[in-house]
Amino acid sequence: MTARQQGKRIGFVPTLGNLHEAHIELIKRAQQTNDVVVCSIFVNRLQFGLNEDWDKYPRTFEADSAKLREVGCDYLFHPDDSEMYPNGLDTQTRVICSTMTDMLCGASRPGHFEGVTTIVSKLFNIVQPDESVFGIKDYQQLAVIRRMSEDLCIPVDIIAAPIHREPDGLAMSSRNSYLTAEERTKANQLNKSLNWVVEQVKLGDRDFVALEKEANRQIEAVGFKPDYITVCNSKTLEMAAVDDKHITVLGAMYATAARLIDNVSLN
Ligand code: PAF
Repeated sequence: MTARQQGKRIGFVPTLGNLHEAHIELIKRAQQTNDVVVCSIFVNRLQFGLNEDWDKYPRTFEADSAKLREVGCDYLFHPDDSEMYPNGLDTQTRVICSTMTDMLCGASRPGHFEGVTTIVSKLFNIVQPDESVFGIKDYQQLAVIRRMSEDLCIPVDIIAAPIHREPDGLAMSSRNSYLTAEERTKANQLNKSLNWVVEQVKLGDRDFVALEKEANRQIEAVGFKPDYITVCNSKTLEMAAVDDKHITVLGAMYATAARLIDNVSLN
């Protein structure tokens, strides 16, 4: 009898692989509230732009499997392109979330969120979990997936897991491995600048444009290229209004071979 037939609660953690501590925390979070946990590893070509790192994205299947065994993950789903996109990418039916996808990361990565919502809905249909866990580091992705699930009546509880950070504050990410040794020593600047903005807002400064400008300057000063720093309404991701109570500051910056993202919420 399958786990589902036995009435077991199924938790799901979709990933691109190259698993690190933050992914393992997602698995542990799923284990807390589910009887069975499924992890998927699929480097989804559809969410990578033409000039992005799909080709060189680290594929570390043996090490990933060992980590999943060690944490006691029950199932690993590791499909290839022909399994996920049997009719090819060009004619694949797409899932498009018509809000929150062209701004912030979506502005610099056109088509990215369409690739994410398409693959996540396919994975949900295959795995049919009760619950799925996503890291808050990808704040916009989480908001888009929540909205997609709500709009399409997908019966999966979407769970947000906290950002897992290196001791110096850098948010853990597979893409941190693209940083040069010198860049790595300064890469926590994104987090520092986001925290700085949050502190100023807490102190009562509501000139968000000026705060964003100064945070961009701080990032440039240590040698990175800011993509955006935006003080957002935590739910809509629109630029925050001065009287907004729920505020999240989102940011992205470029190193030589990596684009890093992070966010800090006020409450
Ligand atoms: O966050 C990721 O790792 C990916 O975007 C996801 C959710 C696994 C979809 O490919």
